[in-house]
Amino acid sequence: MNKKHLLSVSDFEPEEIYELLQNASKFKNGLGQANLQDKSIALIFEKPSLRTRVSFDIAISQLGGHPVYLSKDEVGMGVREPISDIAKVLSRFVDGVVVRTFSQRTLKELSTNSSVPVINALSDEEHPCQALADILTIYERFGDISGKTIVYIGDGNNVASSLAIAAASLGANVVIAAPSGYSLPNHIIEIVRTRALLSEANLILTDNPTEAASDADVIYTDVWTSMGQEEETETRLEAFKSFQVNQELLSLSKKSALFMHPLPAHAGQEISPGLLENPKSVVFDQAENRLHIQKAILTKLIS
Ligand code: CP
Ligand code: NVA
Repeated sequence: MNKKHLLSVSDFEPEEIYELLQNASKFKNGLGQANLQDKSIALIFEKPSLRTRVSFDIAISQLGGHPVYLSKDEVGMGVREPISDIAKVLSRFVDGVVVRTFSQRTLKELSTNSSVPVINALSDEEHPCQALADILTIYERFGDISGKTIVYIGDGNNVASSLAIAAASLGANVVIAAPSGYSLPNHIIEIVRTRALLSEANLILTDNPTEAASDADVIYTDVWTSMGQEEETETRLEAFKSFQVNQELLSLSKKSALFMHPLPAHAGQEISPGLLENPKSVVFDQAENRLHIQKAILTKLIS
């Protein structure tokens, strides 16, 4: 049985990421094969979701498999019973487990005790499925990502971490513009630097969004307050107030530059009103590509 898990983008080597992109494009063009017949996949969500839940449910169904949705309260991970027991029980029923949770430790404990693949559908630390869909979106627009400059403006959060690892793996320069104390975590910086060294790309960390935006091929942002950080909202609004992506900032980027956001977005906070509809915006392509890349991920890990 294939037991590889997807807890971090770094679980995939660069060549595996290329393979996922190719297969996702096949699925998008109607050329992929349904390959999850007789397979059941559990979907555990400890945080809210629109895109991830719907796209996984549809991806599994369109591949011929059977999604089993489990809410936080039903499963009670580590509350109703130990995470290790949940992993062992689910492994007897299903062929894969897709999990949206808080701590990376929960994912680690699930995967250590699971005989079937575990897929991270967002944790506090990473959002690998989002990053791979984003890379697919950039590929579709530019044909390649190597040598491009991806500028992420805002919180060095789960989305920023996975994006930085994925982009650096494929040779893109990564610029993170974040207020002091809100950049990427050190262990992620280490992974990104290692990947960038191998792909001959650069990682630049700055607190100057204006400088970062000039020469960008991609300007990417995400929420200032992620799910689970609601108590920090006021402090974060203050810390990030000069990091809003707006028309003025976007106009500093190249003419061909893309504007990206994983959604949900907050107009008036990390973006100015109307920005999702800007001609540079590819945010709804990113959302659609979740479906196609997740078919490729499910195929690689479970079929
Ligand atoms: N981008 C994303 O993961 O959206 P959801 O939180 O709605 O799943
Ligand atoms: N950083 C955000 C991403 C949501 C898709 C969060 O974790 O809430």
